[in-house]
Amino acid sequence: MTTVAPSVHARDLSDAPDWWRQAVVYQVYPRSFADTDGDGLGDITGITSRVPYLAELGVDAIWLSPFYPSALADGGYDVADYRDVDPKLGTLADMDELIAQLHAHGIRVIVDIVPNHTSNDHAWFQEALAAGRGSAARERYIFREGTGPDGSEPPTDWQSTFGGPAWERVADGQWYMHHFDVSQPDLNWANPEVRGDFVKTLRFWSDRGVDGFRIDVAHMLTKDLSEPLPSQAEIEALPQDGSHPLFDRDDVHEVYAEWRAVFNSYDPPRTAVAEAWVHPSRVPLYARAESLGQAFNFDLLEADFDPAQFRRIVADNLALAAESGSSTTWVLSNHDVVRHATRYGLPDAERGADGRPTLKHGNEWLLSGGQTPTLDAERGERRARAAALFVLGLPGSAYLYQGEELGLHEVAEISDDQRQDPTFFRSRGIDQGRDGCRVPLPWSENGPSFGFGEGGAHLPQPEWFAAYAVGLQDGDPASTLSLYRRALDLRHALQTDERLEWIDAGRDDVVAFARPNGWTIVTNFGSEPVPLPAGEVLLSSSPLEGGALAGESTAWIRRA
Ligand code: NOJ
Repeated sequence: MTTVAPSVHARDLSDAPDWWRQAVVYQVYPRSFADTDGDGLGDITGITSRVPYLAELGVDAIWLSPFYPSALADGGYDVADYRDVDPKLGTLADMDELIAQLHAHGIRVIVDIVPNHTSNDHAWFQEALAAGRGSAARERYIFREGTGPDGSEPPTDWQSTFGGPAWERVADGQWYMHHFDVSQPDLNWANPEVRGDFVKTLRFWSDRGVDGFRIDVAHMLTKDLSEPLPSQAEIEALPQDGSHPLFDRDDVHEVYAEWRAVFNSYDPPRTAVAEAWVHPSRVPLYARAESLGQAFNFDLLEADFDPAQFRRIVADNLALAAESGSSTTWVLSNHDVVRHATRYGLPDAERGADGRPTLKHGNEWLLSGGQTPTLDAERGERRARAAALFVLGLPGSAYLYQGEELGLHEVAEISDDQRQDPTFFRSRGIDQGRDGCRVPLPWSENGPSFGFGEGGAHLPQPEWFAAYAVGLQDGDPASTLSLYRRALDLRHALQTDERLEWIDAGRDDVVAFARPNGWTIVTNFGSEPVPLPAGEVLLSSSPLEGGALAGESTAWIRRA
């Protein structure tokens, strides 16, 4: 299948400042990557111990989900101190060592910045509670009086993203706003002190050698909270055109213009990628060079394994990237959604706004419309491999989520009392939440936690994890891990500029495109084998069938 010798890709950190444009970025969810102190929770030294694995995989950068001090009420997205490391995960010295090791292996580092909210353990919030109403400390957050005769009703009927009310009452009777969990009070971005402190944080990590930032809910920071506050129904009905009181406001870009000046004061400039759930027409505002510089494109997270959807998504997002002058980002999985091997192993269905099928226990899934299919794991993996080669052949950067290189599935076997995700608790179990994609990785077939650590794993690893272990896939040329390694290696060798030209394959179930440098990508979304264009088959997501591309497969061709 693979007919050219692997190139040795010498990644050089002195590369051009636009290294990020076509980078492969690997998301590490630190609590669930590797545990060296045996407490069941992944840690920084665990990641350092696996730097050779990341280098062999061939990624250009890693994005670290939050590793800051946190009660882990929302998996670390509840930050108690933005300029330190959670003692459960390590120390600042450990981070320095990790950054140094990654850089020594030619891998850049992106860290997660969570600016919309802090943890309720943050010194600022504790100060706000102690200082009382009308204080400067409360002005850093969004405190309001309640409604009703005695103020015992929340200021509005707003609902939080995780379910339940978006306001919480404190001991002296005031209420604070939280878009997410009650442990995540929203900051007041109209307060210059808040703005100044985040600039300090960006400099703190940039000075330590971090190469870029992923900005959590980048579209939510600024708010217009002038009275009277609108109701939930009004909020939902208002257009999100830059003037909405809560989401995607034009004035958020004043914040990012200030950040951009900080990023550009470094050499090379620090990069940033926006997690902005906004109307597609507004994505370029975040991706512009004057703003954050790049924005996530989540369209594939919500798409079926479907040729028309994939083709449209590529065309739309390349056009959006051209509009902003940035490159787009391809994401098949992350820590917030059901892993794509599993999504693709379920029947296509209306999936609801977040694209998340709901898992039930015993590997039974609930799709909207009341279907409860059983997962076709093998088919899901086959499609996942095809989708990965499709995405890795595209111009733009690709964000991989830890474990997808193993073909890993979502874990359904988590009992209610083992769940950690606030979405599970705040929806009273209606939404099973995101724990199933956050289960610690299997590194070896055996051992107390499949090589994750000596002391078990903070979320239960099912027995079937053994079959996906790194150790097992390592030397197997047919494994998904080998496919990813080979794909990343070839991508580095083949990738030049960001042009893409569609190829008419003459049938609806095949999507094909040509890249510069003689590189062609063909994906067969159908079930029957299809002939391949002339050329040398460099890589294929499943074995060819009599020289033809098998169903639900992708091949990379060197054009004749
Ligand atoms: C988006 C993050 O990806 C998610 O994990 C988190 O729960 C919310 N933002 C709140 O920070």
